[in-house]
Amino acid sequence: MTIPADAFGLYVHWPFCLSKCPYCDFNSHVRHAAIDEARFVRAFKAEIAATAARVPGRTVSTIFFGGGTPSLMQPATVGAILDATAQHWSVAPDVEVTLEANPTSVEATRFRGFRSAGVNRVSLGVQALDDTALKELGRLHTAREALDAVAVARASFERYSFDLIYARPGQTPQAWAVELKRAIAEAGEHLSLYQLTIEQDTPFFALRAAGKLTTPDDDAARALYDTTQAVCAGAGLPAYEISNHARPGAQCRHNLVYWRAHEYAGIGPGAHGRLDIAGERRATATEKQPEAWLTRVESLGHGVVTDEALSPEQIADEFLLMGLRLAEGVDPQRYARLAGRQLNPRRIAILREEGAIETTADGMLRVTLAGFPVLDAVVADLAA
Ligand SMILES: C[S@@+](CC[C@H](N)C(=O)[O-])C[C@H]1O[C@@H](n2cnc3c(N)ncnc32)[C@H](O)[C@@H]1O
Ligand code: SF4
Repeated sequence: MTIPADAFGLYVHWPFCLSKCPYCDFNSHVRHAAIDEARFVRAFKAEIAATAARVPGRTVSTIFFGGGTPSLMQPATVGAILDATAQHWSVAPDVEVTLEANPTSVEATRFRGFRSAGVNRVSLGVQALDDTALKELGRLHTAREALDAVAVARASFERYSFDLIYARPGQTPQAWAVELKRAIAEAGEHLSLYQLTIEQDTPFFALRAAGKLTTPDDDAARALYDTTQAVCAGAGLPAYEISNHARPGAQCRHNLVYWRAHEYAGIGPGAHGRLDIAGERRATATEKQPEAWLTRVESLGHGVVTDEALSPEQIADEFLLMGLRLAEGVDPQRYARLAGRQLNPRRIAILREEGAIETTADGMLRVTLAGFPVLDAVVADLAA
């Protein structure tokens, strides 16, 4: 999948959910009073204007509404954000505009509105096709409802994807293979398959610490990972990233912007950006707490709380960390240009000998299927 060398992505964060799933540590909040969306629209517009003043003249190639649950936004809110984007930057004629959605019937009724507002790709959080598992994950929808929402997505957007979580308590490779094949039968061009991670400060973390939740050990998780790769590759949906599968040419271009270390702006509470300004790459982050973000934008015109230039070493480490997640790997020459030094040939030789990495015919350095389960260790070794 090619994306322009000067690709520029825009991430928009919607920080609200109907309820908080017990495994989730994303910046998502539950509010019992109605959300003042008009106030949010003003703040999003202001932050887009402030960001565009810092990085003018860009052509936006991808836009991603993430959350939280962006499908809870009014389509008019999404439309206003897209209009503001087009007012301040050029927008590529083939721009990819993705919106993350929860698969409840209420949200599926908005899909056509999102389509009219300019969204052309939806990513649904299906998570499981098993009602008991969905309950355990604290989800508000059944498998039937999720599949109905997938059908509405298929009818409303030219591109759609959905997420499943595997390595759930008690899950066997056999049961997962059956569930995954059922999912693939409903999938279009793209699937995200995440191993359940027990994040600190979540209810699942406390439950596991108390011995009330048992997740698959390393060997069992590895068997589930292997099943995932085999089933998906057999169905023409190979992994192009450690957790993402697509048919050729159908990768999520917005995520490629991150993984190939292109430039992107983050708008909304707790959004991160990487902006190239005056020869420096700057890492930006906004205030996470939604109401504090609103007040900050209303008084300062932006919600940025972190804005620092990255050193060549940091840029190069990030390039490795993100790029090695991709099946295509990284260009060692680009690493050398960023870091001001070559990757250590002795470490490469050892990792190659261990079967964790390989070099492709066109000189890309990539992690092998055997290396992916130990990706963090491989990256740490190469970056040292
Ligand atoms: C930001 S969430 C948003 C999607 C949407 N709010 C939903 O839940 O349907 C993106 C995806 O991350 C995955 N995810 C979140 N927490 C996870 C965890 N602890 N382990 C594995 N996957 C997780 C889920 O598959 C989820 O769909
Ligand atoms: S998984 Fe999705 S719906 Fe659940 S709390 Fe996280 S962001 Fe919200």
